[in-house]
Amino acid sequence: MSLPAGINVRRARPGDASHVYALVEQLGYHPDHRGFDETFAQTVRHPEAAVFVAVEGLRVIGYLSMSQRPQIRLGGRAANIDELVVDERRRAEGVGTALLDAAVSYARGLGCKRVDLSTARSRQSYERGFYVAHGFAEVDSALMRMELTRPKP
Ligand SMILES: CC(C)(COP(=O)(O)OP(=O)(O)OC[C@H]1O[C@@H](n2cnc3c(N)ncnc32)[C@H](O)[C@@H]1OP(=O)(O)O)[C@@H](O)C(=O)NCCC(=O)NCCS
Repeated sequence: MSLPAGINVRRARPGDASHVYALVEQLGYHPDHRGFDETFAQTVRHPEAAVFVAVEGLRVIGYLSMSQRPQIRLGGRAANIDELVVDERRRAEGVGTALLDAAVSYARGLGCKRVDLSTARSRQSYERGFYVAHGFAEVDSALMRMELTRPKP
């Protein structure tokens, strides 16, 4: 699937924050604006993170955030796709595929041995097999989480 004319994928800049915030809300998250802006600026500058945006003119219509670091048991680097979302009005046009391709080539270029991502099974993209269609395989792993921002029970 090729991208429609006029849409490009590039690395994100701190000035993209407000557009990306609107996309984060579509993912179902509503972080406070101050914390979001600071975290976004830190992430786009972080040496072990890479944020890609799909833009049409000045509008950001999708973003993907990836992190990568050395992993001892692999004897090399591993990458993780932390977030991927395309504006709900612009889905099924190839934008998600273009963001995923940009991130996977970036990880390959860094010599990463693996790209992981976790997603909710209830998401439409999981049910549609979006990741499997793009070369990912589901593995037998459990995602464990400890929330540190809630009081201990
Ligand atoms: C998952 C997501 C990023 C895909 O982006 P996208 O731009 O719609 O993806 P593409 O257009 O590149 O490809 C979508 C595939 O689903 C198909 N599709 C058809 N209708 C679709 C629809 N309404 N929405 C999404 N995909 C659709 C496309 O035809 C394509 O399949 P194909 O490659 O076999 O033709 C996007 O749907 C999204 O943001 N979903 C909500 C958030 C989410 O689930 N994020 C991932 C988990 S964190």
